[in-house]
Amino acid sequence: MLPAVNLRPAFNITRTSHVILTVADLRKSREFYTDVVGLVVSDEDENSCYLRGLAEACHHSLVLVQSQDGGKCRRIGFRVFFDEDLDIAYQYFRGRGLPAEWAEAPYQGRTLHVSDPIGTRIELCATMETRQRMYLHKEKHKGAYAQRLDHFQIHAPDTYALCAFYSELGFRNSEYLTHEDKLLGAFMYRKGTCLDLAIVPGLAPRLHHLAYTVPEAHDIFTGCDLAGIYGYPSSVERGPGRHGPGGMLFVYLIDPDGHRVELFNSHYQTIDIEIEPVRWDAATLSTNVRWGLPALARWYSVATEFEGVPLTEPVEKPNPETLESYIRKREEAAQG
Ligand SMILES: [Fe+2]
Repeated sequence: MLPAVNLRPAFNITRTSHVILTVADLRKSREFYTDVVGLVVSDEDENSCYLRGLAEACHHSLVLVQSQDGGKCRRIGFRVFFDEDLDIAYQYFRGRGLPAEWAEAPYQGRTLHVSDPIGTRIELCATMETRQRMYLHKEKHKGAYAQRLDHFQIHAPDTYALCAFYSELGFRNSEYLTHEDKLLGAFMYRKGTCLDLAIVPGLAPRLHHLAYTVPEAHDIFTGCDLAGIYGYPSSVERGPGRHGPGGMLFVYLIDPDGHRVELFNSHYQTIDIEIEPVRWDAATLSTNVRWGLPALARWYSVATEFEGVPLTEPVEKPNPETLESYIRKREEAAQG
């Protein structure tokens, strides 16, 4: 059901690292990510703001860039372990006819821009400048106390095909979602927890969400409270709830430009070689486990496009149960 994983990949991607998002109003977005999410600013200038979580020592996990075309993703970033992994990655992508270009990025070491086969724009680096971890500086904590960037969820026209590409790069599935032998969700990791990259079907390439961990379950509710207090009450899009796959408590917030950010209370560990992926059947699962309502239709259909990358329709249009279809069914049942 799942593609074979190359456990000795050509080069070593170690983890989800950072994401670069364009925003229409830098001041407003900075406030959202500091006051509601709880990130701290590492550096900023007139056009960009570099933020990190309270437990992060590396310079940035989120880069906001002022742009008239706000609401796009420039790149999602992964780390590789050694600098020479970048040279191997360059050859690897070029050898497969995929884009690979060297780039300059502030506060980072050597940086490589690549695209996967569906056009997802990716930035790879081995090093960044470091800053003090802020988790003990309680006097400076705000928002939901976001600790570290954990994973991305992206759309793909064909989940299996893209899962196979990342499996060759050493990504393993912690859990996966199927329906009638079709792979609908691949929850893949490199760093030894449940996720670095989730792949789901849809108009692609698009970034569905980025996800930060929070230390306590109640911090998820604090994030919701502060979203309301700071003027973003409708930004609480889905949850709080508990996922089936992964089992964690979550909420999804929509930032001022429509980018989706998940806050959740961390994961189990998946390092060992004998760990097998957990299979979920979409027919028996709304992605909430046992309680809670299905997500709004927009949670499935709306996502952040990559700047300048054309979109491809999914091979098969997803047809998940949504809050709207769930309510319709209940009303029809009540009317007999
Ligand atoms: Fe997520």
